[in-house]
Amino acid sequence: MVISASGAAPLDVLTDGERIAALAAPGTEVAASWAASADRVISAAGKYVLPGGIDAHTHMEMPFGGTFAADTFETGTRAAAWGGTTTIIDFAVQAKGASLLSTLDNWHRKADGQCAIDYGFHMIVSDVNDATLKEMDACIGAGVNSFKMFMAYPGVFYATDGEILRAMQQAAQTGALVMMHAENGIAIDQLVAQAVAAGKTDPVQHGLTRPPELEAEATSRAIALARVTGSPLYIVHLSAAQALDAVTAARDTGQNVFAETCPQYLYLSIEDLARPGFDGAKFVASPPLRPREHQGSLWRGLRTNDLSVVSTDHCPFCFAEQKELGRGDFSKIPNGIPGVEHRMDLLHQGVTGGELSLARWVEVASTTPARMFGLYPGKGTIQPGADADIVVYDPAARQVLSVATHHMNVDYSAYEGMEITGRVQTVLSRGRVIIDAGQYHGVTGHGRFLQRELCQYLS
Ligand code: URP
Ligand code: ZN
Ligand code: ZN
Repeated sequence: MVISASGAAPLDVLTDGERIAALAAPGTEVAASWAASADRVISAAGKYVLPGGIDAHTHMEMPFGGTFAADTFETGTRAAAWGGTTTIIDFAVQAKGASLLSTLDNWHRKADGQCAIDYGFHMIVSDVNDATLKEMDACIGAGVNSFKMFMAYPGVFYATDGEILRAMQQAAQTGALVMMHAENGIAIDQLVAQAVAAGKTDPVQHGLTRPPELEAEATSRAIALARVTGSPLYIVHLSAAQALDAVTAARDTGQNVFAETCPQYLYLSIEDLARPGFDGAKFVASPPLRPREHQGSLWRGLRTNDLSVVSTDHCPFCFAEQKELGRGDFSKIPNGIPGVEHRMDLLHQGVTGGELSLARWVEVASTTPARMFGLYPGKGTIQPGADADIVVYDPAARQVLSVATHHMNVDYSAYEGMEITGRVQTVLSRGRVIIDAGQYHGVTGHGRFLQRELCQYLS
């Protein structure tokens, strides 16, 4: 059963080299002749056949909080493949004083020859000046046309409203997409300092000092700046119902505002941050995990398309030695949760639980990210001419998520013990079988850099 963003149909899929060559109804003469002459036939009877997942928000090897995210491009893309993701879009990180193009070169050096699956880059802009603004256009020529800015993390990635306005003006001229980490970092830093001074140092304070209102306020401000400048806007890792309300209101006026959420906000909550001892550190990410009440709004937003994409924000830090940097001071815990391997499975729980249709699962996990980030129709669809990035998914298999069985290079699972219905059976990346029946057949360096076109949703 081939699942697309518009529905499901029983089809045989013929691949030739790296591409999908044709589709045919099973049992027809043409399908029988393919089966007779094919080098290999993969049975997908009783299974779903999906376009490979596209995770548009990952941080392999990201420098953060004095350390680096624990997955390299090699280990992280391999783990992604295990979970049915065949494309990632990672972030090159501009350091203060560095140029965008030299930053991009650095990230190419990290990823080149390392990836198991195809990959692209967004650019994190942390130093807005005349040269940076000019270089944004050069980045577009280099296939990087989405620029993440931060209203959080003063002194690190933070950009002022004036800097954001200037970058948005630049983006408005070219059709580049500004991606926003929308939290009011100036106010949050005051709350954090007050908590630490009062001796409130446990991981749960991370959540309590970053209230949903300060995500909603920043989201509204980013939307206002985008409206003034005519820039499209993509809100990353949206976690709070109030922030979603702001996105919904903007979209209802026809503004080019888009948003993603992440599995951790759909399944985990501030109760995880409040786990006893220092265990809550495993769940420290920004924006923080919210009270459970927010989850219903996020699922609804996915159904109404006010949330268009689900990405992981995969940013793994080991508990030992990395998360532990924040023992005694939650503000020193490196921010990030691992998850690149589990996105397709976790969203499938939304299907089995009645939150999402099968078509919507594929749409938010593959087809829309492909369109949003200029990869469609090479990626995100099963149709002749598309890359043969294909997942055979067993909807009835059962698995338990655990650090003992996952492939991410991190010493804990945020979903430890969670029972899942459904599992990846086979994964093809550009026609090559890289996962099959519990075995990895991929090759380091098979993954290619993807030069992306502009966002395909801009009106
Ligand atoms: O906590 C997070 N989200 N870490 C990764 C960096 C970011 O802000 O996306
Ligand atoms: Zn962020
Ligand atoms: Zn991120």
